[in-house]
Amino acid sequence: MSFNKYHKKVKENDTVILYLGYDNMHAIKIKRGSVFQTKYGALRHSDVIGTTYGNRVQCPKGYLYILYPTPELWTSNLPHRTQILYSTDISVVSYQLDLKPGSVVVESGTGSASLSHSIIRSILPNGHLYTFEFHKERAQKAEEELKDHGLSDYVTVTHKDVCKFGFDLEDVADAVFLDLPVPWDALPSAKKALKKLGGRICSFSPCIEQVQKTCACLAELGFEEISTMECLVRNYDVRTINLPNPEFSKENSKSLPQQKSTKSEQEDMDSDSPSESAEKSLQCGKSGGKKITICNSKDKGQTAEVLDTPEWDYIGKKTAANFSFKSGVSFGKMPGHTGYLTFATLYPL
Ligand SMILES: C[S@@+](CC[C@H](N)C(=O)[O-])C[C@H]1O[C@@H](n2cnc3c(N)ncnc32)[C@H](O)[C@@H]1O
Repeated sequence: MSFNKYHKKVKENDTVILYLGYDNMHAIKIKRGSVFQTKYGALRHSDVIGTTYGNRVQCPKGYLYILYPTPELWTSNLPHRTQILYSTDISVVSYQLDLKPGSVVVESGTGSASLSHSIIRSILPNGHLYTFEFHKERAQKAEEELKDHGLSDYVTVTHKDVCKFGFDLEDVADAVFLDLPVPWDALPSAKKALKKLGGRICSFSPCIEQVQKTCACLAELGFEEISTMECLVRNYDVRTINLPNPEFSKENSKSLPQQKSTKSEQEDMDSDSPSESAEKSLQCGKSGGKKITICNSKDKGQTAEVLDTPEWDYIGKKTAANFSFKSGVSFGKMPGHTGYLTFATLYPL
């Protein structure tokens, strides 16, 4: 099995992702004779061997897909030994640390090696990751896992307390990433590990007090361009919106986008999912610009002109009472704080 090289068909000992839905996935290692229980019933591993990745496999009560693992899928399904970094933060870290093929990266702590998998994918084929973890079993497990995933040539896992003993690396790294409770203790050694030509550093901390101390220490050590960011995903829910019935005439159409929402729209926004009746009312109307073809039974085939409106598309239905269509609605609150990402640059001395 290798996260590095792709092969088409599932083999014994492959780690595969079973996809039953975007919020129902499992990473399993294929072993002939083993059985995995899913909500669709038992999956026999031997039924998966020889299947082409991406194909679906039948279980007694439904089917699931067999996916080849990527760092993103691994991050969503790995066994948690610690808190981990998720793909949203990982994408910003990879970009801000300027990771590319050939980069040399120093990381601590390794934790569950969620970030490590993505770092390695970015720096392949000739870069290297030095990752440090002071919890012995976690360091061992990460090493085993990375070996099992065919990545051991690109990573060195070291069991060490980097805050007490440092990285013991000098002038080698293009980038350093710290996910530690007291990152400032590791910063002097991190600076030493960075190439004399300079490099980038990132420290991930859940609390703003940790960020304050880290920033102060970075500045003292001569790092520049210190900046902290938080990266949150903004979700949109697809809802059915009901508006009062618009008149598709020249005068009325001007005010169409400003129409006030009705009670039924509010009810729909407050409900968990679009109402069944609203679902049923969906039909095939579509506007690519100023002309709209109405598809409900009464006015079917008619073309209405919409003047002075911005380009807007809808899939909706005009009924005697109202006009309903699908729209993306954002949430008022944005949960999902994981941590603050503090980045800084070390310029050549
Ligand atoms: C939150 S986890 C890291 C998760 C990792 N970024 C991931 O994506 O899977 C933090 C790890 O740092 C380790 N750690 C804490 N202090 C350390 C130190 N002084 N030296 C090395 N590792 C340390 C902990 O044991 C823990 O496993």
